[in-house]
Amino acid sequence: MKIKFCFINIVLIQNFLDLEVSIMSDEEVILHVENLRAYYPSKDGLIKAVDDVSFDVKKGESLGILGESGCGKSSLALAIIGLFDKMARFRAGSSNVPGLLKEFEKNGEETPGATGTVIFRGHDMLNTPYEELAKLRGKEIAMIPQGLTHALNPQYSIGMQTGEPIEIHDEDVRLIEMKKKVLDFLNLVSLADADTRYVLDPGSFSGGEAQRVLIAMSLISGPYLVIADEPTSALDVTIQRQIMNVLQMVKDEFDVSTIMISHDAGVIAEVSDRIAIMYAGKIMELGNAVQIYHSPGHPYTMGLMASFPTIAMMRMREGGSRPKLRGIRGEPPDPRNIPEGCPFHPRCDFAKDGCKEKVPEYREVEPGHWIRCIRYEEIQKE
Ligand SMILES: Nc1ncnc2c1ncn2[C@@H]1O[C@H](COP(=O)(O)OP(=O)(O)O)[C@@H](O)[C@H]1O
Ligand SMILES: [Mg+2]
Repeated sequence: MKIKFCFINIVLIQNFLDLEVSIMSDEEVILHVENLRAYYPSKDGLIKAVDDVSFDVKKGESLGILGESGCGKSSLALAIIGLFDKMARFRAGSSNVPGLLKEFEKNGEETPGATGTVIFRGHDMLNTPYEELAKLRGKEIAMIPQGLTHALNPQYSIGMQTGEPIEIHDEDVRLIEMKKKVLDFLNLVSLADADTRYVLDPGSFSGGEAQRVLIAMSLISGPYLVIADEPTSALDVTIQRQIMNVLQMVKDEFDVSTIMISHDAGVIAEVSDRIAIMYAGKIMELGNAVQIYHSPGHPYTMGLMASFPTIAMMRMREGGSRPKLRGIRGEPPDPRNIPEGCPFHPRCDFAKDGCKEKVPEYREVEPGHWIRCIRYEEIQKE
């Protein structure tokens, strides 16, 4: 009797736990980034491409990363997938890097490379051996890289390349199943005549089509997270629209989390649940789409929104005042020489002396709304 009672209890507890797990999984964090820094070595000093960045991505969520060219978006993506150190060395020219690295070691505290915390589904992305990470990439975490030119191999058919992520990760997959899956995914991204053209090499496809292939490739192994780095910027406007529709469909159909990276507020607005605004390697503001587009709190976000016609028109349609389009005065800083204090202060209409002194803390000003500005409360009242 006692045993039976115990058993029922265990079943109840088990059910309760299952319930709790399913409630929690709605908010399950699949990517946790904390105090991430990614610095390139250069003869003129460290280039702080990513500087103290923290955020989470939840299951099924789409996070947008918006910022002007050069603010560190691609470097952030590389750091998340654990490739920053390799790319930084490779691109800086491997021969001069060891000497450069030694120089920085002598200087003490600040060193080149990616530091901080990146946890993707329990994997420590900054401290996992390269071979282990290679198994994750493509399968659990996929990236649609910026710039189409080198993304596809000109020598292999697009069918073969689309199937590559499953071939690498699942050696037992049968050829015929693989072909079916490849065609399913190429059709899914609406590649015209995929059934006959999958045998052709990339040279026979336009830029927009190549982008569709890359999207199919990133999804085929059923990843948990897809990072899309400026997936439309190399394309003309009509094709951009079609690719946006494909991405929107992906977002609706699959339970995949996405990080959408762009310098275009219109692109980010279409697919993002939450948005991070990046400037000079830092997140200046992060919030949901309504907070960012309708009541931006950081002067940089305000300037950014005021310079996008589509966003201004959208607000006017919803009862806002007639849009005044103006850019942000001045230029983004030289990455080798980022201003002291708040990096935005030389361009900011609200800057006071305090803004020049120290880097503002990144703080939560209302639930889920993060800002890096010491004057947020005062500016709200003005
Ligand atoms: N391999 C590299 N070596 C040195 N500096 C780099 C390298 N790649 C990018 N940078 C610099 O890092 C900063 C951020 O670049 P990037 O991450 O490409 O920005 P974004 O993607 O937002 O345009 C820029 O100042 C850029 O010049
Ligand atoms: Mg980039």
